[in-house]
Parts: sequence; C-alpha cells; structure tokens
Amino acid sequence: MFYIGIDLGTSAVKLLLMDSDGKILNIVSKEYPLFFPHPGWSEQKPEDWYEQSIEGLKELTKDFDKSKVAGISFGGQMHGLVILDKDDNVIRPAILWNDGRTTEECDYLNNVIGKDKLSEYTANISFTGFTAPKVLWVKNKEPENFAKIAKIMLPKDYLAYKLTGVHCTDVSDASGMLLFDVKNRTWSKEMCEICSVKPEWLAKIYESYEKVGTLLPDVAKELGFPETTIVAAGAGDNAAAAVGTGTVGDGRCNISLGTSGTIFISSKKFGVDSFNALHSFAHADGTYHLMGCMLSAASCNKWWMDDIIGTKDYAAEQKTIEKLGENHVYFLPYLMGERSPLNDPFARGTFTGLTMDTTRADMTQAVLEGVAFALRDSFEVAKSLGIKIERTKICGGGAKSPLWKKMIANILNIKVDVIESEEGPSMGGAMLAAVAAGEYSSVEEIADKFVKVVDTVEPEPQLVAKYEERYKQFKEIYPALKPVFAKLK
Ligand code: XUL
Repeated sequence: MFYIGIDLGTSAVKLLLMDSDGKILNIVSKEYPLFFPHPGWSEQKPEDWYEQSIEGLKELTKDFDKSKVAGISFGGQMHGLVILDKDDNVIRPAILWNDGRTTEECDYLNNVIGKDKLSEYTANISFTGFTAPKVLWVKNKEPENFAKIAKIMLPKDYLAYKLTGVHCTDVSDASGMLLFDVKNRTWSKEMCEICSVKPEWLAKIYESYEKVGTLLPDVAKELGFPETTIVAAGAGDNAAAAVGTGTVGDGRCNISLGTSGTIFISSKKFGVDSFNALHSFAHADGTYHLMGCMLSAASCNKWWMDDIIGTKDYAAEQKTIEKLGENHVYFLPYLMGERSPLNDPFARGTFTGLTMDTTRADMTQAVLEGVAFALRDSFEVAKSLGIKIERTKICGGGAKSPLWKKMIANILNIKVDVIESEEGPSMGGAMLAAVAAGEYSSVEEIADKFVKVVDTVEPEPQLVAKYEERYKQFKEIYPALKPVFAKLK
C-alpha cells in the first residue's frame, strides 16, 4: 500500500509518497506566497495551502497506481491561527508562527494573568507566535472578524477539515496553542475562558497516529484515490520531523534547520522548563517533548544568499569558507525577532565585528555560525535542566550542508547522526498514516524499522575549544544591543 505525508511548510508544501516498507517513491514541492503586511507580521492564505496541496497530491501520484493510496497524514507549520465563519469561509488570512504582532496580548497573558497560571494550565507561557494571543489580538483589533468566528484551527487541520469534513487536531500541534493542557492532553477550560474562546470553536483532539476519517467522496474523486483512504491526525511539523528522524521514546534529540530552527528532545515523562525558555509539548508518539525554537534559521542563509548577495549556488559559496573557529565576524540571526530562549519580538539581525579586510566568505560563515550559536543557546537551557544530550539527528533544508552540520557538531559539542532520508516532517506524516492504517502497531515500531543512520559527524576537540571562545563572544552581543533593539521598535 501507499502512504502520503504532507509537510505544510512556510515557504512550500512538500509531499512525499512512500510504500509500506518506507521506500520513498516520489517527492513533490509546491510554493505559495508569504505576506508581511507590516514589519514583524507574517500571514498566508489557507486557500493557497489547500489549492497547492491538491495540485501537489495530483502531481505526486500521477505515475503511480492511485488505488493503492491507503493513508494520508501531515506535519504542519505550528501555531498559525485559521478562523472560519459559520459557513466555513476563511475570515481573514492566517496569522503565522513567526508573526510578532501580539506583544500587548502576550504582556497581558504573561504579566496580568501571570506566567505561573499559564504554566499551571498549559505547561507553557505566552510567546507572540502562539495561537491564543492571536485570538485575543483579533478580539482587540478586529472585533468585526472576531464576531464572525465559528471555528478556530491550526494550518494542517484546515487541510484535514477540507479533505475529510472532520474538525480535528492532534495533541502535538494543539500544545502550541496555549489553550491546551499538555500534561492531560485535553483543552484547558481556564485558558479558553481567559482568551474568550468558546468550546464549540475548538476541534476534537486525537493522538497524532489516530485516524480522524476518510476522504470526502468529492475529494477522493478529484484525486482518483479510493474513498476508503484514511486521513490520520498528523502532527506539528517538529513532532512529525522527530518521527521521521526516529526521535521517539526517551531522551533523543533532533535538530531541524528549516525556516525555523528547532532543537527537540523527546521524553517519556511530562516535564516543564522552569525557565520557560523551552516549550513543553505532547509528542506524536504518545509521549512528550521539550523544544527550543528559533524563528529564523535556514531562512537567514536563504535571505543572505538570495536577497543580499544574489546567488542560488549555496554550496559554491560555502566552499570558500576555510577558517572554522577563527571568524571575527558575528551575526545575530534575529531577522523576525526571537523566540527561544530570548522571547524578544524586537530583537533584530546584525553583523558585528566587520573590518576593511572582512570578506564575503567571512560574512556567509558568520550567518551559518550565528544560527548554530543561537541553537546552542536553547541547548544550554536543556543542559541546565540536567538533560544530557550526546548525539542528535538533523533534518530540514539546512541539513543538506555538510559544513553547517560540522559547525553544529563543534559549536554544540555533540555527535550529529546523518540519516538516510532527511525529509523530516513529510516522512513523519507518511509514517503516522501507516500507523493509523494499522500497518504498524506503534510510532516507535515504525521509526525503529524505517530510520537508518548512514553517517555521524563527530566534534573535533580542537575546533570545539576554538568555538567555545567564539560562543562566549557571541553571547555578549545580544544583551549589549537589547536596549538599542527596544528603541528601534
Ligand atoms: C515551532 C515553530 C516552528 C514552526 C515552523 O514552535 O513555531 O518550528 O512550526 O513551521
């Protein structure tokens, strides 16, 4: 049988077709626009997601026996707010995970309601990208839209709704709404009241590997798939990526270098970061995880390559980098503000340390290193909680760069395990569909069978020592500039 994973990303939807044994048969990617209507705001049209996903599904399966498609599931960009009216029309563009407009609403939640209460109800505090402050923003700033709300949902759940007619979500993605009691895997009545969210607006909650329904007859007909094709709840893209890289069970780590950069630590036990820097979320395998999320990771390199120096040949650019651990130029990667661990929507990107002899290669290197240093900030929080991480998997567009993997291994001083397929969320989505269809008994079982480590990048003691010094310098730049950033807002 065939299973399809849909990774509903920020720059594109990536679709993957695999067979029952985990062999990847085809991959297709379809782009859609991202809108920045004000500095720090970030929106997309849910209708674009659906149209491109349907086009992608057709293209993905056109040369294959469609009658063998048995299941579909998702990894979706997290936290986005999609609102529908009573006739299921999208009321306004979705407000995305990297949108920073809700500073006032976050201040209210974190300081008036209080971080302790939020943490007690949801295991997390408020960050501008989370969903609940966005609901409050719509209430405060767009009351005419707020009055029309009949359903709220997350990005991938909009796709599931259009495909099956079931208003559903899964525990991992729901965790990022700040309306969800993560420990007990259920909606938090208290938070819904605080945020004026009516219970009837909310989706039914599923575990990520559970079936939510089958394709609507019209959709099945349009795609040429059997009407019996099941749709599984799926997961937030980070939890789906963790499934795709075998980061399941206890104490495993995955780094995702996509538009965002995340460090994901799986845990069988529920736990909260007492510093509130890492998110405490439910995992797609039925357990929990801690996660640090930086808002701009591979997107910093893409911005630097495509928009600033104007090249598409990233590999050629990286070949000119020779002086690892000796760069005098530093880059703060806060192009969309920063989430973990700074929680500062007003942080901004900067180059520091430029001199007359600074080269283009030094600056490219600084961008790649800046992202790795910022990931280390979240990694340090995990270490301070007593979590021991010796190795990590890695996925996402940035993971295709051998140089970036080497920097991460040495800056974090951990072994980086390279796996056969770095597809992450789309692979994880397809695997969740296969579990929901009953081909495998658990997420852990399918991950053990499918995920193969093909190489390991080892940290090199001399380089680790050099980078340790550089990291100390890096850490001084943001606190020094923080008051300046606050004025720039
Ligand atoms: C996680 C987060 C991002 C998005 C990217 O908390 O906001 O990783 O899920 O799609």
